Amino acid sequence: MKKFNNKLAIVTGGNSGIGYAAAKELIAQGANVIITGRRKEAVEKAAAELGAIPFIADQSSLEDIELLKSEVERQFGKIDILFINAGVTGSIMPIENMDVENFDQVMNINFRGAYFTLSKLTPLLYEGSSVIFLSSIVASTYKPNSSVYQASKAALNSIAKTAAAELAPKKIRVNMISPGPIQTEIMSKAGLDKETLKNLNNNLTAQIPLKKMGTAEEVAQLVTYLADNSISGFITGTEIVIDGGITL
Ligand SMILES: NC(=O)c1ccc[n+]([C@@H]2O[C@H](COP(=O)([O-])OP(=O)(O)OC[C@H]3O[C@@H](n4cnc5c(N)ncnc54)[C@H](OP(=O)(O)O)[C@@H]3O)[C@@H](O)[C@H]2O)c1
Repeated sequence: MKKFNNKLAIVTGGNSGIGYAAAKELIAQGANVIITGRRKEAVEKAAAELGAIPFIADQSSLEDIELLKSEVERQFGKIDILFINAGVTGSIMPIENMDVENFDQVMNINFRGAYFTLSKLTPLLYEGSSVIFLSSIVASTYKPNSSVYQASKAALNSIAKTAAAELAPKKIRVNMISPGPIQTEIMSKAGLDKETLKNLNNNLTAQIPLKKMGTAEEVAQLVTYLADNSISGFITGTEIVIDGGITL
């Protein structure tokens, strides 16, 4: 008997990076997993590789969130593990040059979308369910040129803690995972070319006390830890940092 047998997990943004690795680990431990994402082909390809259920949904769209809710309600009736992971960095630029489109896109996906994913899916959570938000160490760091991304993750931490307080009476736990630099596609999606990306990775690695980037699989292990009531059943409202020591 695997530990997540008969459990339903939803992983938003499950077609690449941390979401993909978390879905893989949850499935390996017996869970039924729905992965979401915007790109139909990528979501369906990942779902086929993983043995997951694909659901094309934009986390920033309330309509898509409602559709996801109806589908989960119809097929499963409840959610055991809700991993709200989808996110983007948006453009890197100083506050002075920030454009409204970039501000809205990042906030709509990382904050508003995550907020309403939790809000709309809460009726399907029950005693023993675990909600995990994928935040970032940037939620509490203030580096130049990343104001909106940083603010979106700080806002995420705020709602995660309020949700932990609101849902505790129902014995539903809500926690955050805040990674430092993890090797995924996120920075290339932000428009950085190969050379810039390589330099950025080298720079980051030099700054990280453990002298390596983290892996999506290492973060996935934390997801299954927080999802498992038998080992993390007394942990709620907590932010777990996984960053190789870079915030020391
Ligand atoms: N990598 C890092 O160093 C790092 C560090 C700290 C925190 N994080 C956070 O970790 C999370 C996962 O990022 P990652 O590094 O694994 O990057 P990734 O490989 O780019 O994965 C991001 C996932 O989110 C999905 N996504 C993006 N916007 C979406 C939207 N509007 N609706 C639905 N899905 C959406 C993407 O799929 P589609 O493109 O198909 O929609 C993809 O599956 C993000 O919240 C990110 O902020 C990453």
